[in-house]
Amino acid sequence: MTIPPAFLDELRARVGLAATIGRSVKLTRAGREMKGCCPFHNEKTPSFYVNEDKGFYHCFGCGEHGSVIDWTMKQEGLAFRDAIESLAAQAGLDMPQESPEGQQRARAAAGLHEVTARAATWFAEQLASAGGAAARGYLDKRGLTAAMVAAFQLGLAPDARTRLKAALDSVGEARLIETGMLIAPEPDSSGKAGETYDRFRGRLMFPIRDPRGRVIAFGGRILGDGQPKYLNSPDTPLFDKGRTLYNLDRAGPAARKSGRLLVVEGYMDVIALAQAGIIEAVAPLGTALTEQQLQLLWRVVPEPVLCFDGDAAGQRAGLRAALRALPLLEPGRSLRLAALPAGQDPDDIVRTQGTAAFEALLAGAEPLIDRLWRAETEGIDTGTPERRAGVRERLREHSQSIANASVRSLYDAEFRARFDALFLPQRSFTPGKGGRFAAPTARASEALKALHARPPATQEIAALLVGLLEHPSLADRCGERLAHLDAGEGTARALLGGILDALTHEPELDKVALTHNLRGRGLAELADRVRASNRLGFSFTKPSPPDQVSGHEAALERDFAAVVDTVLARTRIDGELAAATRRFANSESEADWTAQQRLRAERAAVDGTLMRLAETRRNSDLD
Ligand code: UTP
Ligand code: MN
Repeated sequence: MTIPPAFLDELRARVGLAATIGRSVKLTRAGREMKGCCPFHNEKTPSFYVNEDKGFYHCFGCGEHGSVIDWTMKQEGLAFRDAIESLAAQAGLDMPQESPEGQQRARAAAGLHEVTARAATWFAEQLASAGGAAARGYLDKRGLTAAMVAAFQLGLAPDARTRLKAALDSVGEARLIETGMLIAPEPDSSGKAGETYDRFRGRLMFPIRDPRGRVIAFGGRILGDGQPKYLNSPDTPLFDKGRTLYNLDRAGPAARKSGRLLVVEGYMDVIALAQAGIIEAVAPLGTALTEQQLQLLWRVVPEPVLCFDGDAAGQRAGLRAALRALPLLEPGRSLRLAALPAGQDPDDIVRTQGTAAFEALLAGAEPLIDRLWRAETEGIDTGTPERRAGVRERLREHSQSIANASVRSLYDAEFRARFDALFLPQRSFTPGKGGRFAAPTARASEALKALHARPPATQEIAALLVGLLEHPSLADRCGERLAHLDAGEGTARALLGGILDALTHEPELDKVALTHNLRGRGLAELADRVRASNRLGFSFTKPSPPDQVSGHEAALERDFAAVVDTVLARTRIDGELAAATRRFANSESEADWTAQQRLRAERAAVDGTLMRLAETRRNSDLD
């Protein structure tokens, strides 16, 4: 809902700007203003001014500027509405309720927070009590520290019908039913209602909090195996599942500071990540991400990262989220999608492989547009014009579903450019009037340039590195080619250098010995990271099967060499294409046009080869 401007004025008038800022910054009077050292950047001489009359602060050093609301949002890491609620509470003002429904919701919720808070406390007490020993053992077995149990206020619902009901007797049955803590059985045929009883029995309890940190509902996990694994509170006046994200109250402020926000699937993932030091994670509550949840995410950061299982179901879920996000995209606002190894959730990954491995997966998260492109082009038979037209049509439908005109037109242009680069055979030169000819549209060529401005082949290089780690003998057999490979700057280059150096001195090293050698060079962790982040599956990225068929080695070598060649070819073509595009932009001559078209066709052929060689892990999963 929108907050009436009059209310905001009242709020600004009631909470003093200087008083609020003065709580964390030492201010001294300077004429009509106050000044101090700017909290937004590092400085020794004050250039941060607070003007109470005008109601804003301004830093002449770094340019930070705003009202008391901006200040509260930035300093407390709150969203606009939450900042206002916080200030209103300080000023003793009631939040305005503009719609009758809003008012009704507020009335219905009044007093219910206290019920859920008391239930959370009681569950936590049960977990800490003698009766909680088995549950504590379970948490222990899963590696959860006591600090996390406390931080997330985990609890235990005893395996009994009416323990909670009895303990919270003073709350009154009606409010316990209203908050979903008790189940009221339907009246039987004689019209007699049965006794109410505890909804959560024999479960580990995860309190679900609203953005202001108040408990509004619970998720309850069965201890060990059994069905259903999780039971959640029903929708209540406090809790609307589709508009809630688990842990948003903690992750939000942290994410506003760090600029990243992760969406994972489960409660346990959120907690395991927090334990591993990654505190900016939220989870939906057992359903696909809703529009409202996407909007909540975008209120925190412009590009949240969704983490999905690499298995078929997880990949479909990721694609569904991508499609749901499309209509809502706006300039600067998108998603990225990280694919985890099949069958593993973030909890598994940080526990078994560590935080760095998980970070590496995040670093490899795919932009939304790439995910859609992949869904429509990978593992899809495009052998006939009709099928290719189908691909083009589906891509067009995706871009058309974007509501924002600016984003829509750029998606359209980028999809077209990618499509043309991949499929269009060399176009014959068709002179128009006066010898002019149809040049590509400006938009498409812009998009094409952006496409080619991507870092060269980092994914393929990662896959090649994994190949060398798995099958060190490839280095010897393809050594000549590798010498030409440009692994860019930084980590990939360091690892490639390390591997080649190790194998130059000891060509007989096998996989295990090579890993050992790399550890001695301080490169083992990097090798693990590259392994974990690799998204392309080639024959050589897999370990050799124990009983090798003859010719296996030769096939590996052939594929490996082919991928090295395509990477080399791409680098060359991209360089030439950029030059040709520049030349054509200046000359608009037929010769330069033809050269550009030839290079585009070459690039498409190379991409085609790569695509054939890459059994990109998830091809068959996208139906
Ligand atoms: P997962 O089965 O992936 O849960 O379901 P998890 O968090 O990894 O749990 P552990 O590691 O087995 O303990 C993901 C989320 O889906 C919802 C819950 O919100 C859960 O956290 N869910 C799952 C349900 O609501 N009901 C279920 O029966 C299962
Ligand atoms: Mn799990």
